Amino acid sequence: ARTRHYTFNVTMATVTRLCVTKSIPTVNGQFPGPRLVVREGDRLVVNVHNNINNNVTFHWHGVRQLRSAWADGPSYITQCPIRPGQSYTYRFQIVGQRGTLWWHAHFSWLRATLYGPLVILPPAGVPYPFPKPYREVPVMLGEWFNADPEAVIKQALRSGGGPNVSDAYTFNGLPGPTYNCSATDTFKLKVRPGKTYMLRLINAALNDELFFGVGNHTLTVVQADASYVKPFAAATVVISPGQTMDVLLTTSASMPASPAFAMAISPYTNTVGTFDNTTATAVLEYAPQRAASLRGIPTPSLPAYNDTGAVTNFTSKFRSLASAAYPARVPRAVDRSFFFAVGLGTDPCKGRPNGTTCQGPNGTARFAASMNNVSFAMPRTTSLLAAHYQRRYAGVLAANFPATPPRTFNYTGAPPNNTFVSHGTRVVPLRFNASVEVVLQDTSILAAESHPLHLHGYDFFVVGTGFGNYDAGKDPARYNLVDPVQRNTISVPTGGWVAIRFVADNPGAWIMHCHFDVHLSWGLAMAWLVNDGPLPDQKLPPPPSDLPKC
Ligand code: C2O
Repeated sequence: ARTRHYTFNVTMATVTRLCVTKSIPTVNGQFPGPRLVVREGDRLVVNVHNNINNNVTFHWHGVRQLRSAWADGPSYITQCPIRPGQSYTYRFQIVGQRGTLWWHAHFSWLRATLYGPLVILPPAGVPYPFPKPYREVPVMLGEWFNADPEAVIKQALRSGGGPNVSDAYTFNGLPGPTYNCSATDTFKLKVRPGKTYMLRLINAALNDELFFGVGNHTLTVVQADASYVKPFAAATVVISPGQTMDVLLTTSASMPASPAFAMAISPYTNTVGTFDNTTATAVLEYAPQRAASLRGIPTPSLPAYNDTGAVTNFTSKFRSLASAAYPARVPRAVDRSFFFAVGLGTDPCKGRPNGTTCQGPNGTARFAASMNNVSFAMPRTTSLLAAHYQRRYAGVLAANFPATPPRTFNYTGAPPNNTFVSHGTRVVPLRFNASVEVVLQDTSILAAESHPLHLHGYDFFVVGTGFGNYDAGKDPARYNLVDPVQRNTISVPTGGWVAIRFVADNPGAWIMHCHFDVHLSWGLAMAWLVNDGPLPDQKLPPPPSDLPKC
């Protein structure tokens, strides 16, 4: 294992997409940002210098951050933001994870342009549990806004309504030929016949789950969120914001008659509001040939935007390897169980500036989002982790996040009359090594909608899922405790539930939130405070000296 040093200079840079030229926050002037390639066991040292006129922090999405919570990055959770002109050095080690993860800004909506791949190779000399691919290619799926994403969310929070949607989806930052002015801004992957390529897919989109497919080619899924899975074939994959997925693509044995094929992405959603209903394409092209034209090349037929059946069918196929080399350590007994009702809600439209109308639901409420009716309020004067480390909770947080919803209702039926949420910085304390189960239940308040829930600091096992209301009497009997998939982000199905388990073996303050940035902005988050264990190597070390202050 080695120590790898990186410098992230956060600077504004000029880019043009869809005929719009603008200045965007970047790392080192690159968009998307630099690719980090490390080996399992390596230590990373990332020096961040903030040279933009906004706060920033960085999160290493999916990295376990064992006893390095100070480097996790979500603003106001594990650190105060790095202010303009300030610097902070993230130090952490990659322990027991290999595959594809990614990094992104974790302040407001800055991750719209501040993101990049984090590729974790196995330790030197350790093979993949599948034949080594000929080439490995990160493919980052994103969303492009012609407007400034910071202005988009600020406007939405002011008006109480939904934010404007993006103008394009992108492959490695490029919208491709289905959009105006973008034929030259097309991601092209040159391939050879008879070879296997591994696409390291990352969904970096702000607010959309995506279908992905490649014309006339089948994909084999081998890895999800930096854990191996039992390989399975799929024509189309579904990937939620925050998730990563490694897929193998074997090219045809001989040169095809026409050398180019489209890779395509389109949204999966069931929101009632507007969404970016466009399809972006990129090109798979057999070298050394060049397609005379990209018109009419074989394109994957992706499911309709609301095809929940296709999504369910795909997600049901994930199984962890659960082999001798890669055992699945699924908690069989549970010390703490929780039931979180997850969904949208509202706030009254009070205190609005004169003359403005409320653009939220029915013009009389503003959008909010909650778990167990608590809409998460970020602390402002310190981070949760600093408060936890110093045991100074007063005025910062309350350790009373409810284990169950304040009132029960038919979560997937007619919504209750009162959709108002409560607000607070409420957390759940956990003792070290507690084994935890959380059932995440979607609610149909305002709309049934799937929510990609991301837990920081842990991978969890997805032991069960279903539609309708979770039934504590019947559903646990059907749990998979043998080879459930291990992930850091899972979509709570629309009008359904998912059950996850993890062991709280990593001390710190860990946010769990919807990875739709709009839902996070509306408060769809909570946090766990995990206490130190008794042994020296079970304790959170003191904060680094350059940790930013609020
Ligand atoms: Cu990828 Cu809290 O985020």
